[in-house]
Amino acid sequence: MCGIFGFLGNRSAAPLLVEGLRKLEYRGYDSSGIAVKNDNLQVHKIVGKVSELSKILPNHIDGNIGIAHTRWATHGLVTNENAHPHLNSDGTVALVHNGIIDNARGIRTRLESKGIQLRSETDSETLVHMITIGLNSGQEPLEAVRQTLKRVTGTWGLCVLFKDHDLIICARNGSPLIIGKGDDETFVSSDPHALSQHTQNIFFLEDGDMAVITKSGIDITRLEGGSSDTSITVLEEEWGEADMAGYPHFMLKEIYEQPEALRRCISGRLDYKNGSSKLGGLKLEPVRLHSATHVRLIGCGTAYNACRIGQLAIESLARIPAVAHVASEFRYNNSVINPNAIHFAVSQSGETADTLSAVKEIQLKGGSVHGIVNVVGSSIARLCGQGVYIHSGPEQAVASTKAFTNMVGALLLFAMRMGRTRSFSREKGQLIVKNFEKIPDLMEKYLSNPGPIDEAVELVKDAKSVMFLGRGLSSPVASEGALKLMEIAYIPCLAYPAGEMKHGPIALLEEGSPVVVIAPNDKHREKTMAAMHECKARGAKIILIHEEGDSIAEEADVAIPIPACDPLLSPLLSVVPTQLIAYQTALALGCDVDRPRNLAKSVTVE
Ligand code: AGP
Repeated sequence: MCGIFGFLGNRSAAPLLVEGLRKLEYRGYDSSGIAVKNDNLQVHKIVGKVSELSKILPNHIDGNIGIAHTRWATHGLVTNENAHPHLNSDGTVALVHNGIIDNARGIRTRLESKGIQLRSETDSETLVHMITIGLNSGQEPLEAVRQTLKRVTGTWGLCVLFKDHDLIICARNGSPLIIGKGDDETFVSSDPHALSQHTQNIFFLEDGDMAVITKSGIDITRLEGGSSDTSITVLEEEWGEADMAGYPHFMLKEIYEQPEALRRCISGRLDYKNGSSKLGGLKLEPVRLHSATHVRLIGCGTAYNACRIGQLAIESLARIPAVAHVASEFRYNNSVINPNAIHFAVSQSGETADTLSAVKEIQLKGGSVHGIVNVVGSSIARLCGQGVYIHSGPEQAVASTKAFTNMVGALLLFAMRMGRTRSFSREKGQLIVKNFEKIPDLMEKYLSNPGPIDEAVELVKDAKSVMFLGRGLSSPVASEGALKLMEIAYIPCLAYPAGEMKHGPIALLEEGSPVVVIAPNDKHREKTMAAMHECKARGAKIILIHEEGDSIAEEADVAIPIPACDPLLSPLLSVVPTQLIAYQTALALGCDVDRPRNLAKSVTVE
């Protein structure tokens, strides 16, 4: 899941490429590089963030055609040689690639047997040499790229630059690639929002599309030949440049944006009169909701944790079987798809390859899929064609926070809607609507006084591992809290349904082991308390997230009160302290909060 940027026009390419990479850095920051065409192909690349690249670039680089890349390593170590762009042997072709070439090993052997020296360990470099072989056999640039791609398997979003041709060739198969049409200039990007300051007129390349960009325009064709149906789209939601707004990190800013983000997510969607919700984008008629056999929810990471909360809420309110699936597993489990079921693909970026593949698998088997997505116009949103935009706004920090609460918000709205087409009463629905409207204020109330987060940090920052426990709706919240602490503070964590803890994980506990217990005042409170006592009996230190005023606070080593709320809605509040614990712990350990190691914001490779 790398970031690709390209430019062809009259302006100097290098500064535009670097600016584009800066906006795409969340997609991978192991190394970065640019290639600019002037008399030759000038390539500059280096390990580290785009800021490192800026340090090595000459003040001025001639040339107004160029391609650029920021890398998340899949094949080959994080080295300068493995950084993109990759050049062919005589420096006449440069390539940047996002994706994985599955049959690269065999191709590498064949290239080496032809005496071609490969400079890197990457799968991507094999492509630049295959294209060169095509050119040397007399093929035109487009044909050389086309014939190359016809002989590889895997995924790609790529751009190719040629010393002897004033053009850029792009191709997409699986990894996102967008072309932006400006005034007398054209841009390429892995993400539409890195284009928004330049143009709103964009082409979302589809799988199998190829494009030739020249001074005279953009020509999109198909890999198998012939023209493409891909047409221009006007970028609706202009997210523009996300700034820190005075916060030290995007993650903290996005934690504090949750109340406003949730207001946007529920605005105009709570239906007090009917005790239900309005989700027009779903295109699901009441009869369809009533006759559905079951609900499947699919996602990865934080999105999967949101799916688990959706599953419980749908079963509770709609009394219909619901299952949450890890997309990367679902994709390969040859799952039985019932077209009468309702399927949700949940994703912040809308570009996660595992989830995207799961959507294709369900559609292949006759099922229809609804997206719960943040990024407008993303691949999952376009592939589903129906769903709910969660309106979190741009989420820059790799560790997802406000997208989680809005995914949960959207799934709770759906659970109400489905429940009301079945046995869930209007009165109960109206109560939830009233309580739901209060949540953003309650979030603000909690964030204005988050409690002893620093004391919790003291307990976890030097721990060998941290255990997170919760029951019912709090079990996925425990998983989400553990995911955050692992992602940005690199502390091994174990999240377990509290009742399951005594069947094994309790063996990990010793004197002083920190255990985060999520215990809102719901039907699981007593049983969760029992698990907490079992941990205390082994000398564990309890960090308890509880309802304000609840006496169980006395039993904890660190007690973090959250405002009282409707039990169904408690995950929207109880997750926030876990986000702050992770954030503060990462700070205390000197970790890079917004760009944690080995991670990237959207995972566009399987
Ligand atoms: C969450 O903090 C992580 N960035 C990661 O687990 C993420 O949730 C996962 O990769 C899914 O991303 P998506 O929501 O964009 O599909």
